[in-house]
Amino acid sequence: MMRGRTSTLRTWSHLLSLTLLLGFGVRDLVALQTRFTTTGHEGPNVELGEDPMRKMKVYVYDMPSKFNKRVVQKDMRCLMHMFSIEIHMHLFLLSSTVRTLDPEEADWFYTPVYTNCDLTTTGLPFVKYMPRMMRSAIHYLSTKWPYWNRTDGVDHFFVVPHDFGACFHYHEKEAIMRGIFPLLQHATLIQTFGQVNHSCFKDDSIIIPPYVLPRRISNHILHASTPRSTFVYFRGAFYDVDGPKGDYYARGVRATIWEIYKDNVLFDISSEHPTTYYEDMQRSIFCLCPLGWAPWSPRIVEAVEFGCIPVVIADNIVLPFRNVIPWDDMVVFVPEKDVDILESILTNISMEEVTMKQKMLSSPSIKQALLFSRKSKYGDAFHQVLRALASKLPHSSSIYLKEGQPTTLNWTNGNSSEFIPWQI
Ligand SMILES: *[C@@H]1O[C@H](CO)[C@@H](O)[C@H](O)[C@H]1NC(C)=O
Ligand SMILES: *[C@@H]1O[C@H](CO)[C@@H](O)[C@H](O)[C@H]1NC(C)=O
Ligand SMILES: *[C@@H]1O[C@H](CO)[C@@H](O)[C@H](O)[C@H]1NC(C)=O
Ligand SMILES: *[C@@H]1O[C@H](CO)[C@@H](O)[C@H](O)[C@H]1NC(C)=O
Ligand SMILES: *[C@@H]1O[C@H](CO)[C@@H](O)[C@H](O)[C@H]1NC(C)=O
Repeated sequence: MMRGRTSTLRTWSHLLSLTLLLGFGVRDLVALQTRFTTTGHEGPNVELGEDPMRKMKVYVYDMPSKFNKRVVQKDMRCLMHMFSIEIHMHLFLLSSTVRTLDPEEADWFYTPVYTNCDLTTTGLPFVKYMPRMMRSAIHYLSTKWPYWNRTDGVDHFFVVPHDFGACFHYHEKEAIMRGIFPLLQHATLIQTFGQVNHSCFKDDSIIIPPYVLPRRISNHILHASTPRSTFVYFRGAFYDVDGPKGDYYARGVRATIWEIYKDNVLFDISSEHPTTYYEDMQRSIFCLCPLGWAPWSPRIVEAVEFGCIPVVIADNIVLPFRNVIPWDDMVVFVPEKDVDILESILTNISMEEVTMKQKMLSSPSIKQALLFSRKSKYGDAFHQVLRALASKLPHSSSIYLKEGQPTTLNWTNGNSSEFIPWQI
């Protein structure tokens, strides 16, 4: 068993030295003992849940490197993009105190498979390869170990951080048509996509914040007394090429914002991305977080970190860690259909309410809960994921299939192009 761990760490050392070259300093991530420290008390500290780590055990499958390390080596841009949490979660779990090397005592099984890491020349994940890679990974682990077949994957969790999670497409209509990948029907999904009553969302999925590089945040913090002289701030695309199935980018919300407010002095909005983006958010009262192709974006995390009240325009969105983070006290929700009266909605909010929300946003524990820290800390986003996994325990004894009971998952369901074994 110990040999297994040593070789896993050795396998990782090459990747890690590459990331060090990029200036990430990820060495700390694999410190054998992860330290969990409590946070400072600079502001109102909101208690965000019990420490889950006392009892839970997670087994990390040792997968062939074609499912993870080699994909990163092929294109290291995926270490930095907004889907890179699948990599950072792996590194975190390898050295986490919840990890067990004995699968027999595991509560959860985790498969390190980087489905978002095979990139097009423009740096976006190849959606057509995602299901192929996922299916190959499940095939591999279900053949090599007995644990998948025991429950059809109920005690397995997967990180699926793409636009529509395990639907593996960025156009909503195609994502819905495809549905959640058939073999993941019973597994627990950890994803950034969350929207109630949506076929790419299971009620028991764990919604996590998009990955934002913690150091990039801390490098740009201005003094807390910096005046917020901009009323509404937004940087990002307003238009995109429409989807082949007639999907309209951001369901027209961003286009409407641009067309109505581009010349309004209260609105500082543009598609140009300035180098002072993070500083500008700290000089603003409201930061728009409209849907794009998917309802979520890293803006929600950035806005909270920089104390700019997020204005979420994405109907039925499910925000990260909704059971512990008091989103209603920090965010303004604007229905997509009301985007044309955005100005009156925002100017109508009282000074008291603005101050209340800003005070909540200044809570260090909330800021911490949305960041995947370089060195995991008590209460950070990694910790919240563990907390959420722990809250699903113990598994009911009914998850274990009886002797001779056939699998309920259909291995030949789906597009046959997805059955081709994953190669890189
Ligand atoms: C199967 O997938 C391929 C490649 O992703 C695609 O071109 C094709 O249209 C799909 N076929 C069906 C029936 O969905
Ligand atoms: C699990 O079940 C599949 C068939 O569904 C089978 O091919 C595979 O060998 C089984 N795995 C183990 C470890 O027995
Ligand atoms: C959920 O979606 C279905 C079909 O898309 C719709 O018929 C139903 O009314 C929706 N339910 C809620 C609560 O929104
Ligand atoms: C403005 O606020 C008042 C009182 O809170 C509310 O009744 C009204 O609907 C609001 N108007 C808009 C445009 O939001
Ligand atoms: C599995 O799915 C395929 C394709 O959808 C279908 O043809 C087949 O009948 C299914 N098998 C079972 C056992 O449901």
